[in-house]
Amino acid sequence: MNILEFHEVTKDYRLGETTVSALRGVDLAVGEGEFIAVLGASGSGKSTLLNLAGAIDDPTTGEVRIRDRDAAGLTDNEKAELRSRSIGFIFQNFNLLSVLTALENVMLSLQIRGSRTAIARQEAAQRLDEVGLADYLHHRPDKLSGGQRQRVAIARALVTRPSLILADEPTANLDHVTAQSIIDLMKELNEKEGVTFLFSTHDQRLISEVKRVVRIDDGRIAQ
Ligand SMILES: Nc1ncnc2c1ncn2[C@@H]1O[C@H](COP(=O)(O)OP(=O)(O)O)[C@@H](O)[C@H]1O
Ligand SMILES: [Mg+2]
Repeated sequence: MNILEFHEVTKDYRLGETTVSALRGVDLAVGEGEFIAVLGASGSGKSTLLNLAGAIDDPTTGEVRIRDRDAAGLTDNEKAELRSRSIGFIFQNFNLLSVLTALENVMLSLQIRGSRTAIARQEAAQRLDEVGLADYLHHRPDKLSGGQRQRVAIARALVTRPSLILADEPTANLDHVTAQSIIDLMKELNEKEGVTFLFSTHDQRLISEVKRVVRIDDGRIAQ
């Protein structure tokens, strides 16, 4: 079963009198366990596509199906529920809470879903270990490098065991070597745990070993 399907999806943004066509008829199917890079220049529609994939926004026309349900047909509560149960998000600017340690940032994802503290602590520590941060559990984000922060964010996205992870330019704020190590880590998690990844980048150099690349150009899939 496909985890995600786009059928002739368009997305327009109204800005006063003008309309920006961010997506102009996108068809895309993402199978369970895939690892897909969305490659495109700034302004090509990558964030729009990922927002629709995560039911953060609805298409203007066409259909986005997430786990075989029409995302636009869900209530806000059902969307929130779907995101909280099955989708993990990773952002370009990490979005960690600065007053919390690495461990607490990852635990919080579980606690807001009702997990008991002891269980949340154990699972969060295990995920941080998996992303190579076993020695940094009690560091706050300002004591971590950019690459380490993004590893915390990856652990946080994984800790709820989502089947799909959406990452919008997760490497944009990192130097090239660190960026490559983040892509390699995501790939390893994909291969080891079968988590489906859909991530965007504008850096051609990062995708040399990615099996499936979706190129987006001015709101259209270009392949
Ligand atoms: N909220 C918005 N309101 C108006 N225009 C937007 C909005 N978000 C994105 N756009 C426009 O839609 C197009 C695609 O943007 P985006 O999806 O952010 O591309 P990318 O992530 O590839 O840089 C751009 O022209 C951008 O200016
Ligand atoms: Mg973007």
